Amino acid sequence: MRCLVLGGNGFIGTHLVRALKLAGVRPRVLDRAGSLRGEEQSGVEYLFGDFSDPSIVAEALIDVDVVAHLVSTTVPGSASADPISDISGNLIGSVKFLEQMRLSGVRRIVYLSSGGTVYGNTEEESLHEESATNPISSYGTVKLAVEKYLGVYGSQYGVRATILRVSNPYGPNSRHIGLQGVIPTFFSRLIEKQPIRIWGTGENIRDYIYISDLSNAILKAIEQDKPGVYNVGSGIGISIKEIIDIVSEVSSIRPEIEFLPDRPFDVKRVVLDVSKFSKTFDWAPTVELHEGCRMYWHWLNGPG
Ligand SMILES: NC(=O)c1ccc[n+]([C@@H]2O[C@H](COP(=O)([O-])OP(=O)(O)OC[C@H]3O[C@@H](n4cnc5c(N)ncnc54)[C@H](O)[C@@H]3O)[C@@H](O)[C@H]2O)c1
Repeated sequence: MRCLVLGGNGFIGTHLVRALKLAGVRPRVLDRAGSLRGEEQSGVEYLFGDFSDPSIVAEALIDVDVVAHLVSTTVPGSASADPISDISGNLIGSVKFLEQMRLSGVRRIVYLSSGGTVYGNTEEESLHEESATNPISSYGTVKLAVEKYLGVYGSQYGVRATILRVSNPYGPNSRHIGLQGVIPTFFSRLIEKQPIRIWGTGENIRDYIYISDLSNAILKAIEQDKPGVYNVGSGIGISIKEIIDIVSEVSSIRPEIEFLPDRPFDVKRVVLDVSKFSKTFDWAPTVELHEGCRMYWHWLNGPG
């Protein structure tokens, strides 16, 4: 099986490519940037270019069985600052890519959506895939729009999409430190001996997943042709304050905290019900949060 990984040089992509290779799936990466540490993995085909450029995409799709779409041209903050770029980079870019899939005859795609933003603010303790989707950010709205276009290409052209609404991954190779992912950002502030900044009161609840559990989940979705919408996370809600306690315990550093005003595009609480994905793909997260933070801290302080 050959898998085209769009955005394969990013945080999640580098882990997925390694997992694919180990599982005997042949990865081909299409990315507009090199990998973070400049490390190209042996046994992987690399193509450089934009995922919305028809000429490079036509070449990238040759002999491909399944696509893993991990491109995002924005993070929630940059999407909110410039929604037009968010729409043109991610929504129009994805539809241009789908057009090339239609023309090339490739019919399977695994898309990384965002469990943290598509649902919006809700009173529900735990969100399942049929929960209402009322995103309050451009990032979440565009993710949901791409999901809907995957549905359109499904009904019109037989594209089979597995949509993964991912919670908050953390671990080695995190890319958008300071912009996305509180665990990488908090640890990096400690290393830089800077205060940890919190938007709001620190009571916002999130669901965190260690990167190896996530890459294993994506691998299962690639290997098994079971289209649908699935939440992927730990299923456990943790407040920002609790994360600070864990980060402090793991690093043995008591951080200084700086409280900033709430950001309007941050939802208050997101905990995902992951039972649908777990049952369908025989998957469960294995790395507990303290342990994941310890491994990540160890990696951050390791050589290189
Ligand atoms: N990291 C998170 O917290 C998180 C949470 C939920 C969902 N996701 C989703 O998972 C996917 C992967 O996230 P990530 O954290 O690995 O992001 P990342 O930014 O580390 O990786 C994305 C990769 O896409 C590439 N890229 C961006 N625009 C491109 C373009 N126009 N053409 C070709 N390549 C392009 C980048 O160079 C980068 O290597 C994204 O869709 C993201 O929205 C991420």
